[in-house]
Amino acid sequence: MKISIIAALSENRVIGKDNDLVWHLPEDFKFFKEKTKEHVIIMGRKTYESLGKALKNRTNIVVSRTEEFKPSDAKKYDSLELAMEKARSIEVDEIFIIGGATIYKQALSFCTHMYLTFVHAEFEGDTFFPEFGEEWELVEEDPRKADEKNLYDFTFKTFRRSASGR
Ligand SMILES: NC(=O)c1ccc[n+]([C@@H]2O[C@H](COP(=O)([O-])OP(=O)(O)OC[C@H]3O[C@@H](n4cnc5c(N)ncnc54)[C@H](OP(=O)(O)O)[C@@H]3O)[C@@H](O)[C@H]2O)c1
Repeated sequence: MKISIIAALSENRVIGKDNDLVWHLPEDFKFFKEKTKEHVIIMGRKTYESLGKALKNRTNIVVSRTEEFKPSDAKKYDSLELAMEKARSIEVDEIFIIGGATIYKQALSFCTHMYLTFVHAEFEGDTFFPEFGEEWELVEEDPRKADEKNLYDFTFKTFRRSASGR
């Protein structure tokens, strides 16, 4: 089964600021929606709160140790291990880890693929994508130019954990 991180990061690895995204790239949003639809998505409590609600047409799982946090439109588990166990029992081909930074950092040790959108600009932010090592092999690259709707150049990159890194 594929377990995939999906994220967008700037040249200086920023992924968010003040619990929100820092750029608006409709083409990347479309990519995210296409990839994750009809799948299980796993996120941290802050990312869920930043979205404001569960994303449609996906099984939304949120991890949180806050007892009072009870999302009505998503499943909640108090550990990432339990969330993964539940996700594996629903999903057959691919589970998506959709952030934020704390979840990416933990998932790097067990996920098999990463879909990373590199936004070719630097931004101020307070949340960063973790560093990752050479066990991650670049398998696909799709550069895009800025246009009137997408204000920055960006590149879709797909990584796979290499055999030696398993
Ligand atoms: N650019 C992108 O692709 C992208 C994607 C997603 C998010 N973001 C951005 O990232 C930022 C949010 O990221 P973040 O790192 O601050 O927060 P986060 O990872 O979304 O959520 C952190 C929270 O998740 C819960 N959590 C984490 N690990 C857990 C575990 N092992 N077991 C149980 N609960 C666990 C905790 O909730 P409790 O405190 O309730 O226990 C923790 O406070 C926002 O700015 C958002 O816009 C960007």
